[in-house]
Amino acid sequence: MQRWAARPGVRKAFRIAGPLLVMALLGGCLFPPTPETTQAKDVFTLYVLEIVWTAIPTIIVLFLFVWSTITLSTTQAKSDPAVTIEVTGFQWQWTFHYLDGDNDPKNDYSVTGTAANPPVMGLPTGEPIRLILKSSDVIHSFFVPHFLVKRDVIPFPNGINPNELEFTVSDPGTYGGQCAEFCGDLHSKMTFTVEAMAPAAFQTWLADAKAGKTPPPTGTPPPGAAVIKLTAQNAAFNTSSLQVPAGKPFVIHFDNKDAVAHNVGIYQGGKEVFTGQIVTGPTTTDYQVPALAAGSYTFQCDVHPTQMTGTLVAK
Ligand code: CUA
Repeated sequence: MQRWAARPGVRKAFRIAGPLLVMALLGGCLFPPTPETTQAKDVFTLYVLEIVWTAIPTIIVLFLFVWSTITLSTTQAKSDPAVTIEVTGFQWQWTFHYLDGDNDPKNDYSVTGTAANPPVMGLPTGEPIRLILKSSDVIHSFFVPHFLVKRDVIPFPNGINPNELEFTVSDPGTYGGQCAEFCGDLHSKMTFTVEAMAPAAFQTWLADAKAGKTPPPTGTPPPGAAVIKLTAQNAAFNTSSLQVPAGKPFVIHFDNKDAVAHNVGIYQGGKEVFTGQIVTGPTTTDYQVPALAAGSYTFQCDVHPTQMTGTLVAK
């Protein structure tokens, strides 16, 4: 932080406040006439004492007011960010969408976390970062304790600018983050990690992240494969029971009608058997699922495991 004494704003404040105080004192506004009895002298001493314990706290409060105002304007200043990330909070995780400025989302890196796999936000140190904070359902709050700031993530209607947060990470490191606004059952699962690294390392990290980005598995299903239809709407599946042929690969034709991220994962005895790519709708995708042995399985959306789940039977 810059030294406050060097700030023109503070100097100006003291330059105005100082003479005003002196004028009040000299003008006799604050002092009674000269005491001319023994008793009057006692009263006068008490009077002066009272002024002292009023003046000292006033000076402290004024000092804190000026300092806070300067700190607020410094920390909220807008800059030309080196990295801009659209952060979308939803019940109950986050999507980090790195905007590269070419207005073509196809080239952007985007990651959506799940409760079991919270997302990582890679950031360069020493460069201004801007977060654009959006919500697709209720109010969340973006909070990294080490950054000493949190900002609400509000589902504003169209036409109202979303909240933004700007900061520059000073030191490389791993910093835990979480949602800081109670937003429902799995509020506590809205965690994420910030990985701050040197700018060159960040460029490598981002390139790797982009390269590792696999498109949703689409394509022509194997001949004769069964196609199971599954729809997600209003954060619910259209069915809680699916039946698939045992011992044969099949296709789940997944229709995500929500503007929220969902996927389909298949589990047996708590073990993950198949994980479909998370897709933010509205969109459809065909998951190619390998053959499952006859038996009963659980399917769920890994983003909303408690409210979007059902039974899948292979036979
Ligand atoms: Cu989102 Cu709490």
